This record gives sequence, structure tokens and C-alpha cells, in this order.
Amino acid sequence: MIQNIFIFGANGNVGRTLVRQIYEKGDTNPDKHKNPTRIVGLGSISDYILCPHGLSPEVAIAYSKTASGESRYALSDVLNFARSRFQQLTFVDVTAARELMRDFHLEVMDNSEFGIVTSNKNPLTMMTTDEFRRVVAKTGRYGYRCSVMAGANAINELIDFRDLGDSVRGIEGCFSGTLGYICTGLQQERSFSEIVREARKLGYTEPHPREDLSGKDVAKKILLLARTAGLDLSMENLTITPFIPLDYLGIENTEQFLEALEQLDISFLKKIKKAKARGNVLRYVARLGFQGDKPVVEIGPRNIPATSPLGTLTGTLNKIVIATDTYTPEKPCIIEAPGAGLEVTAQNVRRDLLNQLQARTISF
Ligand SMILES: NC(=O)c1ccc[n+]([C@@H]2O[C@H](COP(=O)([O-])OP(=O)(O)OC[C@H]3O[C@@H](n4cnc5c(N)ncnc54)[C@H](OP(=O)(O)O)[C@@H]3O)[C@@H](O)[C@H]2O)c1
Repeated sequence: MIQNIFIFGANGNVGRTLVRQIYEKGDTNPDKHKNPTRIVGLGSISDYILCPHGLSPEVAIAYSKTASGESRYALSDVLNFARSRFQQLTFVDVTAARELMRDFHLEVMDNSEFGIVTSNKNPLTMMTTDEFRRVVAKTGRYGYRCSVMAGANAINELIDFRDLGDSVRGIEGCFSGTLGYICTGLQQERSFSEIVREARKLGYTEPHPREDLSGKDVAKKILLLARTAGLDLSMENLTITPFIPLDYLGIENTEQFLEALEQLDISFLKKIKKAKARGNVLRYVARLGFQGDKPVVEIGPRNIPATSPLGTLTGTLNKIVIATDTYTPEKPCIIEAPGAGLEVTAQNVRRDLLNQLQARTISF
């Protein structure tokens, strides 16, 4: 069988890398794969191309390098066309679209036999818990490992724990490469505003760094992890303390925002020195615990022991510490991996695509 795929966001950073990897790594090669991949369509925000017999590598790679503009088509048109032409198809969502993609994911899962693989965390975080459960329960048809830690094993480990009947007792993690980078810089007693400027220059932050400093992105990730562990939670149930005071997050203009951050340099330095004197370090931590049976999720800056699993984390790396009945808090399951990165993310999208197949490589 051939695995037909259609990639939305094909001309974005992850999408472009994915298209290249698919050809370069031989996913389309029938001598290598029992079920080779066939790219039948690519979509940007403005348009899409679709060829039921498969796009040639030259056309696909050229398309993935084009710029997009205003939205000029409806996702439902693509789905309707696909319904008329394909028995099997997996849509890959490497966009950052929100409501539009949430509705599309639901439509595909509820009203077709097609699959989805996504690195976009917005659709699943915007669904109700019931919708989330309905979608991810379509075993083998919905892959979302790349929505957290660039596809490291966090989501899939939690799915396995659930299926193995090993109840999750707590999750703790640092899920922002940007905030990890900032915390490492602060630990070296560098000035806060300077580190943020540097992180932005290096492309580690969103175009407006307040997106990272608000903690909302981290909140979306712990929500997906908690829901994957089987908990009935939504964004409103989470307590989020931003990395910086709320007032600053309201500054629209990026340059004015970066200038205003200088006012926080001294207080950050004092906090860091105080923490150090106690053997602690500052980290931006997402934590899921329980009060009785009630799950409690808190996201915010914390002083934690420098020698703890999260305290030893440096730079842009992410880490998750999971305690279950079997992996006790004293001997938890720990996963450390890059939280972003185009090659890693594209490879893990391909891993999710492989997981939708019955059989994989032909021989070793
Ligand atoms: N970068 C990473 O290392 C990484 C790691 C893990 C997960 N992710 C996630 O992966 C997704 C893609 O990341 P990225 O870095 O590649 O972002 P990006 O460079 O901004 O790419 C997203 C692409 O999707 C396109 N797009 C937006 N809405 C669309 C729609 N409705 N239909 C089709 N295309 C649409 C965008 O077009 P326009 O440019 O015209 O808006 C853009 O080309 C995001 O959700 C991100 O959070 C990224």
C-alpha cells in the first residue's frame, strides 16, 4: 500500500524541512519501504496543489520554497476533493493555525477515514475534553507527538502508561527552550533584558518575545500532557504565572517592550543571587499534581534545587519528569530532549507517519 499524504503549512520552516527529508531519506522509495510515502498535495495559507498520482520531488520542493499570502481557499474543499479521489490519506498539519485547523481536525476525524499527523498544538488545546478524547481515541489515525518537546517521547510515553494501566501521579517539566535559555543566562548573572534580546536575535523567541514570557505556550503543552494522561482539564483550569509581571505583557511595540524589560534587570539579578545562596536555581516549571483526586496544574517561575532533575537542565533543552504508580517520585521516568528544531521536528512528524502504517522498512 502507498501512504498518501497532504501537508498543510508546507512552505513553513517545519514543512519545508519535512518535504526535503521525505525525499532525501527515501520515504518514497518502494525498494526501501513496504508502504512508501507519496506526497499528493501541499498547502500554504494562500493556495494548494494536489496531484493524486503524487507530486514530483522537483515540484514539491519548489512549492515548499514559495511565499504565501492571503487565504484563498477553504480546507473543506481539499477534504471534499480528497474524499472523491483517495481511499487512504493522511493530512499533516505543520501550521500554527487555530480555530480553522481545530474544525478541520474534527471534521477529518469524525467524518472520514483519513488520518492526521500534527506538530500544531493549537487544535487539540482548543478542543473540549470530549472532543480531544474522541479524536485521540482514533487509534492509529491521529498522531500528535510533535505538539510537545518537538516529538520526543513525552506524549507517546503517556499514551503507553494509560494503555498499560499505570496511573500518572505527577508531571513536572520545563517545556520552553526560550525560557530555559533565559534561565541559564540569568544563572550566569547576566542581565535579563540583554539575554532576551540575544535569544530573539538567535531566533529562539517568537517575533514578539512576550509570547514566550507569558507562559501560555508552556500552559498549552502541559494541558496536552495532562489530557493525554486521561485528565479532564481545559485552559481555564490552569494557574499561569507569567515569567514577568503582567503589565509588561501589554506592551505591543516590540522595541518598547524590550526597552521596558531593562527595568527588571536588577530585580532578576537579586532573585538569582538569593536563590544561589540557598543552593537553588530559577526555572520556568509546569507542574501537574493532585489535591486528593483533583488534578492541579500550575505554571510559573520556581526556585528549585540546583541538583534536581529540572535544576540541572541547561540552555534550550526541555525535560519532563513523570511519576506513576510504577515510576515512583523517587525513581521517575525522565525524558530530556530538544524542545524545538526543524530537523528533529520534521523527523518526528515522519515517525508519526510511520506509526500509522502496518509495516515499515523492507529489510535491515
Ligand atoms: N519550529 C519548530 O522547531 C517546531 C517544533 C515543534 C512544533 N512546532 C510547531 O509546528 C508548527 C509549524 O512551525 P514552523 O516553525 O514551521 O512555523 P512557520 O514557519 O510559521 O510555518 C507555518 C506555516 O503554515 C502556514 N499556514 C498558516 N495557516 C495555514 C493554513 N490555514 N493552511 C495552510 N498553511 C497555513 C504559514 O503560512 P504564512 O507564513 O503565510 O502564515 C506558514 O508557512 C507550529 O504549530 C509550531 O508551534 C514547531
